[in-house]
Amino acid sequence: MCGIVGYIGTKQAQDVLVSGLKRLEYRGYDSAGVATLGPRGAATVLRTKGKVQELVDLVATHQKTDSVGIGHTRWATHGEPSKRNAHPHVAGSIHLVHNGIIENYQDLRITLQQHDYDFKSDTDTEVLAALIDYVSRDTSSLLEAVRSALGMVVGAYGIAVLDTKHPDEIVVARKGSPLILGVGNGEVFIASDASALLGYTKQVIYLQDGELAVCKASGVELYDMSNKILEPTVETLEMDLEAVQKKGYDHFLLKEIHEQPDTVRATLRGRIDAEAHTARLGGVNMTNDELRDVHHIMIVGCGTAYYAGVLAKYYIEQLLGDVVISVEIASELRYRSFTVPEGTLALIVSQSGETADTLACLTELKRRGVHCLGVVNAVGSSIAREVDGGVYVHVGAEVSVASTKAFTSQVVAMLLFGLTAADAKGVDPERRATLIDELDLLPGEIERVLKAHEAEVKKIAKRYAKYDNSLYVGRDTLFPVALEGSLKLKEISYVHAEGYAAGELKHGPIALIDDTFFEVFYLLDNWLYEKSQSNLIEMNARGAHAIVITDTARKVDAEVVVRVNSKLELLTPLLFNIVSQLLAYYIAIERGSDVDQPRNLAKSVTVE
Ligand code: F6R
Repeated sequence: MCGIVGYIGTKQAQDVLVSGLKRLEYRGYDSAGVATLGPRGAATVLRTKGKVQELVDLVATHQKTDSVGIGHTRWATHGEPSKRNAHPHVAGSIHLVHNGIIENYQDLRITLQQHDYDFKSDTDTEVLAALIDYVSRDTSSLLEAVRSALGMVVGAYGIAVLDTKHPDEIVVARKGSPLILGVGNGEVFIASDASALLGYTKQVIYLQDGELAVCKASGVELYDMSNKILEPTVETLEMDLEAVQKKGYDHFLLKEIHEQPDTVRATLRGRIDAEAHTARLGGVNMTNDELRDVHHIMIVGCGTAYYAGVLAKYYIEQLLGDVVISVEIASELRYRSFTVPEGTLALIVSQSGETADTLACLTELKRRGVHCLGVVNAVGSSIAREVDGGVYVHVGAEVSVASTKAFTSQVVAMLLFGLTAADAKGVDPERRATLIDELDLLPGEIERVLKAHEAEVKKIAKRYAKYDNSLYVGRDTLFPVALEGSLKLKEISYVHAEGYAAGELKHGPIALIDDTFFEVFYLLDNWLYEKSQSNLIEMNARGAHAIVITDTARKVDAEVVVRVNSKLELLTPLLFNIVSQLLAYYIAIERGSDVDQPRNLAKSVTVE
């Protein structure tokens, strides 16, 4: 979603800002802009609709040596994507970039219009800029003006503010939208996402909700909303530059699919003992007694993270027997009147750790006294900081908008939690041992599937890319794989794709089957084989164009069969999912879509 960068120091600010914005492109955006200040406060504001490259071209013709500036990539919420609505927004001496949403902007706008403010854009951000400008008439301190304006707004924000009257500082503030300050030698960097800081500094301060900071070349002064001075905690960024480069792959998506053997190894590292058949999680912060008292696990997430939860539920409920597992879509849960029974524990699943709906559920569950554990990738993210404990999935930066490696590792991390709880409860040692053996084999199996099937899937994609509709179908653990497979296809190729439980076909979706559809049917050679096979036969009888992904050696009736020769039994669905990731990627390539930055989507959904 929207991205913020800022710089104050001795370098040419425009260069630092556009290189930071380029790093934030992966988050999804529709326009971009920068504002810089000269030593006497002369401002240069450049904004463009479209890609950051357009901004780079514009900057090339308006070069400034200014060493103070802010920049932004905008993902439209209020008002269409356009140059007029792009940030930075300017009101009087104030220049502002903003992530988040100001909910009472309409009322504020009317009030400010009565004070002769004339608005050029449709955005809530321009209203906030005007509000800061308006209150700055009563104070000579930019910090004070920002603080008092923020006291009047309802909503979420991460902001960076320049004032032509104070050319030697940038004021930033955060509530519900992340901001990170990078501390260099005689310079300070501002970013909404750590990737924009890579190559400049690894020393960072994560701004917390309710904090403001004055950034000067000499350093950072941190405050809370009541003007109390705070001591900043400087941390070292774990990410490195390599993580945000394509390393020879055509797209980040393909690179991230191929990284999965290593990322699963990273998720497992130090957490299973394959010989002793035990799992150990350092960050859960719960005693065995506390784990034994868990009777209900509530898994909460959005999109792919939610589907990872649905798949994990099948495994964990088998492992834990008498524990009830519910999986909740965060945007629904947050407005429902739900109850949390005694003994509830929540697993909050999020790659970015910043998803607004998931974060809101975490806040509500904590308010109700539920012990919340994070299953998070982004170290230092809001969710990671606010949970009571958790399991980092450790997949490194996931740059492509569509989530692939995070999904696999979210499932693995939740299984590790299930195994830890099962160990504490002393249940089902045999199944625990099988799962641990399979987790140990999983990275090698993913590696083998990638080698064995990529060329085959590429050919299949060529044949099926012409279809505009698809059904993804599976039973049991393959149902969430069908949901995730269909999400991956639709988001990156714009092919209409629906995921269904195989047993549900007869209850409606089978009516869809015709020559405009192809079907992906997942089939495991297990106790449900016969049941699933009859669903496939029913589909074929209606003229399905079926691609079957299976581990069976038996004869299968379908247009195309991808036979995954798996050493696993329980975790084979994760291998089938790798095949559907490849299928989605190659169909998207055939259809010519922008696979890393699909239209209308953002990597981290920080607004509702
Ligand atoms: C799909 C995808 C999204 C995210 C969802 C949650 O490929 O990436 O559906 O899974 O927006 O994001 P996080 O995990 O960051 O909370």
